[in-house]
Amino acid sequence: MASPQQSSSFTVTPWIVKGDVDYDKLITQFGVQRIDDALLKHVKKLTGEIHPYLRRNIFFSHMYFDKILDAVEKKQKVYLYTGRAPSGPVHLGHIVPWLFTKWLQDRLNMHLLFQIPDEEKVLFKDNLTTEEAERWTKENILDIIAVGFDPKKTKIFVDTEYAGHMYKHACAVARKTTASTAKALFGFTDSDNVGKYFYSCMQSVPAFLPTVMEKKKTLCLIPCAIDQDVHFRLTRDVAEGIGFPKPATILCRFLPALTAGAKMSASETETLVATTDTPDVVKKKIMKYAFSGGRNNLEEHRKYGGNPDIDIAYQWLTFFEEDDAKLKKVYNDYKSGKLLSGELKMILVDKLNTFLKKHQAAREKAKKNVEKFMLRD
Ligand code: TRP
Repeated sequence: MASPQQSSSFTVTPWIVKGDVDYDKLITQFGVQRIDDALLKHVKKLTGEIHPYLRRNIFFSHMYFDKILDAVEKKQKVYLYTGRAPSGPVHLGHIVPWLFTKWLQDRLNMHLLFQIPDEEKVLFKDNLTTEEAERWTKENILDIIAVGFDPKKTKIFVDTEYAGHMYKHACAVARKTTASTAKALFGFTDSDNVGKYFYSCMQSVPAFLPTVMEKKKTLCLIPCAIDQDVHFRLTRDVAEGIGFPKPATILCRFLPALTAGAKMSASETETLVATTDTPDVVKKKIMKYAFSGGRNNLEEHRKYGGNPDIDIAYQWLTFFEEDDAKLKKVYNDYKSGKLLSGELKMILVDKLNTFLKKHQAAREKAKKNVEKFMLRD
């Protein structure tokens, strides 16, 4: 598979993210909009606060988010839609957009459709069997529920089961999408299987389901990491031609891999933190692998200070420490040399383990509640 969004130093496609991602460049390459102050003001007007991910530029770009806010202001019903392709355990990078989705659901009182495209990774990975995807589907659903979505306003559905309700609309998208468009958007070649060419049509459908379900044109907002935007470019291109409004997206950066650069890869289990990791494992991984912006030795560190801007433990804290004042203190203390690299890492370990303890308890409880969330065939 060739990569269309490849530049000399980084690559971002829905299936490969590598290198040092230049997010400003992505905004131009993908033709999306930056989230600006006017938009943040509008968010604050409607929600009463600005989520740390917005303040910190973690959710940094969008398409038509402004239209969503206008619709919410006019009290129109708007849906959220996001998804997860099961191929392994959920790790902290996956949780980031979900936490934000939950905040949007709570603050704006929105219904959420959560797609589990259990066919996606089977089509895109040579070594994943259908049975394994089935097993991960069950596991991953527990993590989704554990995030705390409102069972009355959230529907989770699995593609291979719910496909009967989706197929008609997927075909409408497919009919409007040529092989050369798919090649240009996704970098497919003649040796890629035909399932890959069709898959994006399935990922488009949930953006239309709000309109199908409400039986009138209903807007949809998709919170996700920026690598997914290309699917929704395709969706936006065909939507109006087949009778649906264009979906809006709100896009985030990747939680960097522990070893620095790009996003965590599910295939490199050493450099990611899974939601099921024990406190000891979390500590070991952070201590051993988190790329440090500290100096070579204690004396130099005390004298010249560390560099939080390249330090992965600090970067991760910007995703998991909600308190701006605490974060600022860590930043300043590290930069001045007062806080050592190992100490900074321990602050992160404690933060993550507190988060995971709650998540793991909620994940256990979720086992009893699965059916409350499922949209079955
Ligand atoms: N393609 C996504 C993945 O690789 C799964 C997905 C399906 C998704 N629909 C989505 C992600 C909507 C974000 C928004 O995991």
